[in-house]
Amino acid sequence: MADAAALKRMAGEAAAARVEEGMRLGIGTGSTAEAFVHALAERVRGGLKVMGVTTSERTEALCRELKVPTTSLEALPHLDLTVDGADEVDSQLRLIKGGGGALLREKIVAAASDRLLVIVDESKKVEVLGAFPLPIEINGFGMVATYLAIREVAAGIGLEGDIILRRNGESPFITDSGHLILDASFGRIPEPEALSRALHSVPGVVEHGLFLGLASEVILASDTGIKTLQRPAAG
Ligand code: A5P
Repeated sequence: MADAAALKRMAGEAAAARVEEGMRLGIGTGSTAEAFVHALAERVRGGLKVMGVTTSERTEALCRELKVPTTSLEALPHLDLTVDGADEVDSQLRLIKGGGGALLREKIVAAASDRLLVIVDESKKVEVLGAFPLPIEINGFGMVATYLAIREVAAGIGLEGDIILRRNGESPFITDSGHLILDASFGRIPEPEALSRALHSVPGVVEHGLFLGLASEVILASDTGIKTLQRPAAG
């Protein structure tokens, strides 16, 4: 049985094999995205020319170390392909992301890309999103009022559960963009679109980790090999 690191490596390598010469690439965050960066770096060493835009300081540092060329999203505002991990994926390719705290930049980069290719091991595939606590990035100003408002709008659509401030040791976790994260344990989110709209109605919410209608394809690594999931046609 392959261990989790081996599955992540498989998924990362399968995604790196999809990268074409000259591509403008969004590069995600997390351990699976890092496996992709390692596989991509090998292709770059072999002569592949690409330009990356990273979704976190952490991924930026890894790309620098492995000599994968990067630039800013300002310099390259339209990308061909983004490759990123996820915390949960459902059959409609709706995702929960943000376990690593990079959800805001990840969503901005994914939205600026023609395609979002998600790489996960099979443990991330779920029937219904929500067992993984949903990360919600909020502004530090008025955080208690924002927390209460989130609880209220969630309750309005029948969702309840603990909502806790993410910490980094003794201090609050601060995102690369200087915000805080609340992790909301709703358990099951049967209607992610309704929750997305509800959360966006709260002024202190900067972004949330529901990625809806963004993923074009999922590479799923399991003991039996690589499977791909395509987004069902709309309508
Ligand atoms: C980072 O903020 C997240 O969105 C990651 O993509 C997600 O947490 C998956 O990370 P792993 O690949 O480490 O599980």
